[in-house]
Amino acid sequence: MAGRRDLPHRGTTKTVAAFAVGVFIGFVFTFLCPNGLLSSSPPIQNHTLSNSQVDSSRCELCSEKINKLRSNIAKLLEKNAELTKQIKMLNENKQSSEQESDHTREQCMTLGHNSLKAGPFGTVHALRTNPAVLPDESVNPRLSKILAEVAINKELIVALANAKVKPMLEVWYTSIQRVGIRNYLVVALDDEVEDICKLNGVPVYRTDQNDNVDTIAKTGGSQAVSGLKFRILREFLQLGYSVLLSDIDVIYIQNPFDHLYRDSDVESMSDGHDNKTVYGYNEIFYEPVMGYSRYAYTRRIWVYNSGFFYIRPTIASIELLDRVVDRVDRGKHAWDQAVFNEELFHPSHPGYIGLHVSKRTMDFLMFMNSKVLFKTVRHDPELKKLKPVIVHMNYHHYDRLQRVKAVVEYYVNGKQDALDPFPLGSP
Ligand SMILES: *[C@@H]1O[C@H](CO)[C@@H](O)[C@H](O)[C@H]1NC(C)=O
Ligand SMILES: *[C@@H]1O[C@H](CO)[C@@H](O)[C@H](O)[C@H]1NC(C)=O
Repeated sequence: MAGRRDLPHRGTTKTVAAFAVGVFIGFVFTFLCPNGLLSSSPPIQNHTLSNSQVDSSRCELCSEKINKLRSNIAKLLEKNAELTKQIKMLNENKQSSEQESDHTREQCMTLGHNSLKAGPFGTVHALRTNPAVLPDESVNPRLSKILAEVAINKELIVALANAKVKPMLEVWYTSIQRVGIRNYLVVALDDEVEDICKLNGVPVYRTDQNDNVDTIAKTGGSQAVSGLKFRILREFLQLGYSVLLSDIDVIYIQNPFDHLYRDSDVESMSDGHDNKTVYGYNEIFYEPVMGYSRYAYTRRIWVYNSGFFYIRPTIASIELLDRVVDRVDRGKHAWDQAVFNEELFHPSHPGYIGLHVSKRTMDFLMFMNSKVLFKTVRHDPELKKLKPVIVHMNYHHYDRLQRVKAVVEYYVNGKQDALDPFPLGSP
């Protein structure tokens, strides 16, 4: 916005320069061509230069006139020099104000404002990566201190856990420790989990015993608890950290921080199972009664999995969390993943202002859900050779502990038949 300030100035510069040049050219032409620029007849032909009729009195008159004209020329040349000098000065001013405006334009671009002019075809790119918020330690000094110790490059893996999921939690942190990841943190919703973590060298943050979060963790229904992570995440972002939020039924096979793009507010794994469902496709709605226009095109994409996503500390990200928390709190049967996806993807429409949050879908073979593994990958000789970054047992709830252990056997211990005993679907 500030970049616009120099525009009127630049305009004025140009106008003054054009005016000065115009005035000068006007003088010159008036002098040389008093009959006008477009006259094709030789100038001053009628009297001064009709030499056959020249008489002495006229000659005197002539030389007098010529002298006058000479002095006029001298005056005009002087004036010209002065104007040239002025134009040069104005040009210098113009250049410096252009440099200033280039700088302002750059600043505007980094701040998220558009540049003043679009570049040539194919060279323009909208802003993708929003600026991070200024960290605010006062939000939670205790958490801030823990994060300063645990995070690497201001980012870390975060998982919520209570005592009900102890066996799964153990598989989870063991896989993380095996890969050598150090920037991870368990948010313990009860004392038992806090103790287990401390005993096993797992970085842990116990939620405040007296705050809202703790009440929900102890007494809230399952929806309220699953919405909890969005509430807790907010403080991490306010403190200026990027969080890779992880359910605990995720097995780590490589370090995910080596495989992130970090260019979007939200970078998430998908519940889709192939290129189409993960990255988007066209589905045709068929309505024969419409005759010629019986095909209506729709755009589809499988939902993002709210159990494994990377979120950057931006205003858009925090607004997303706030919207999800608000709707999960108010909704009777609001599933946090459904709400998360609605807020991510629904455009503005009457009565609703859509969220302007940037998003990226993770590679579904690197950040693999359990349907992809059990439906496709384990039957495909080429895909079997791929080493994913993580496997999320999101599609297999009831026997997920056995399945995550089999995944560890398969990918970590190289037991080729470890996945064979399992049917595609869970009971
Ligand atoms: C040209 O000269 C003649 C006489 O020599 C004069 O009558 C006439 O008015 C002049 N024409 C112009 C346009 O000055
Ligand atoms: C999916 O997309 C990738 C990348 O574009 C491509 O290499 C691969 O062949 C696609 N797979 C199928 C089954 O179309």
